[in-house]
Amino acid sequence: MNLSIPQITHLQGTRHVPGDKSISHRALMIGAIADGVSEISFCSRAADPMSTLSCIRQLGLKIEDLGKQIIIYGNGRHGLQMSSAPLDAGNSGTTIRLLSGILAGQRFSSVIVGDSSLSQRPMKRILDPLRLMGAHIHGTDINTAPIKVEPVDRLHAIRYALPMPSAQVKSSLLFAGLYADDTTSIIEKTQTRDHTERMLGLQTKNENGSFVVGVHPDVKIEGKRFFIPGDISAAAFLLSAGLIVPGSNLRLQNIGLNPTRRRILDILRTMGGNIQIDNERIIEGEPIGDLLVQYSELKSNLELHGAEVVDLIDEIPILSVTALFAEGSFRIHDARELRMKETDRISAIVNNLRLLGCEVEEYEDGFAFEGRKKYSGNILPSYGDHRIAMAFGIAGIRIHNVTIQDTECVDISFPGFWKELLASAKM
Ligand code: S3P
Repeated sequence: MNLSIPQITHLQGTRHVPGDKSISHRALMIGAIADGVSEISFCSRAADPMSTLSCIRQLGLKIEDLGKQIIIYGNGRHGLQMSSAPLDAGNSGTTIRLLSGILAGQRFSSVIVGDSSLSQRPMKRILDPLRLMGAHIHGTDINTAPIKVEPVDRLHAIRYALPMPSAQVKSSLLFAGLYADDTTSIIEKTQTRDHTERMLGLQTKNENGSFVVGVHPDVKIEGKRFFIPGDISAAAFLLSAGLIVPGSNLRLQNIGLNPTRRRILDILRTMGGNIQIDNERIIEGEPIGDLLVQYSELKSNLELHGAEVVDLIDEIPILSVTALFAEGSFRIHDARELRMKETDRISAIVNNLRLLGCEVEEYEDGFAFEGRKKYSGNILPSYGDHRIAMAFGIAGIRIHNVTIQDTECVDISFPGFWKELLASAKM
């Protein structure tokens, strides 16, 4: 469906965002291999975590979906059963990569498939280290999905330095480490999101400037209650809307504020964004709070690289759009990983900025442009990528005559996004 985006004069009131996508995937998977019953509250109902839910159902678990809660009756890490049909990860990189870590240690075989976008994404990053652990796991000739896993009795522990910053690879190997013969250690130069570590109770140590996390196969995983905080990566779209539409004043409730995810708040504040945190507290090991955002005159002069880019990896599309409305320049380097996402996000962002009349310089690991220029509306492709659709939808609330194509892809992470954006907006 194509959506012509209406102009908005101001946004007011309280908005809700879905449960954190990364934490929802992990709660479902950890519940599936836990001993005993887990109860997940505020699980994201977006298509990606629902792919994880349907995969773990296929692995023979009893699951009750009560609407507000999902109950999983775990039978321990060896309590999964072979699925007669391939497991379908849909569009979800987190599902296929994390689940591969769990399935690599099973005594039965599995096949995981994905949609056309997921089937083009790189899987060598998990296949290589899982094979080092002794897993019998294969992708296609070019190391893409479908992924086939053959049974093993036990995996071997490894000490592995991640060649690229990836929480998905780290988490896949930590899950596989639950099925190994000793402690598996993962070393990161730049720390990526640490939800798996927090949820499994693992400690990260700093060794000579690197982050090292180990998992012992005897770590206890007991069924428990999970409370999923609101997704800060989803909230970022509404924060941006609040900042760029004059007269706006919004409250976003119960947003996850994990230190490996909240960099977007620092950057938007550096740009002059008026964002306050209210009611900050810790729930189930994750910090959460309400975010209050008001329209602000933004200035950018941003030059992002290194660890900053890792922390902001899912927010680069919306940060780029926000910088369109800020005085000054926006430059990003070290963002090669963006080319491996649901679509090549560097190319998608650059193409869409150019379609709006913005002069952009593109390079291999990033791009640069000047904000606060004259832009003109256009028909913008979403490339079937939820974050591109939402980011440029936000551009459309300030630029006349923007139409976004294939808007339904927002369901991957934020079902109801368009309603939430336009609710009580004055147009
Ligand atoms: C995720 C990790 C990130 C992120 C993705 C979710 C996760 O991917 O882009 O949306 O839940 O672990 P990488 O780890 O591949 O960078």
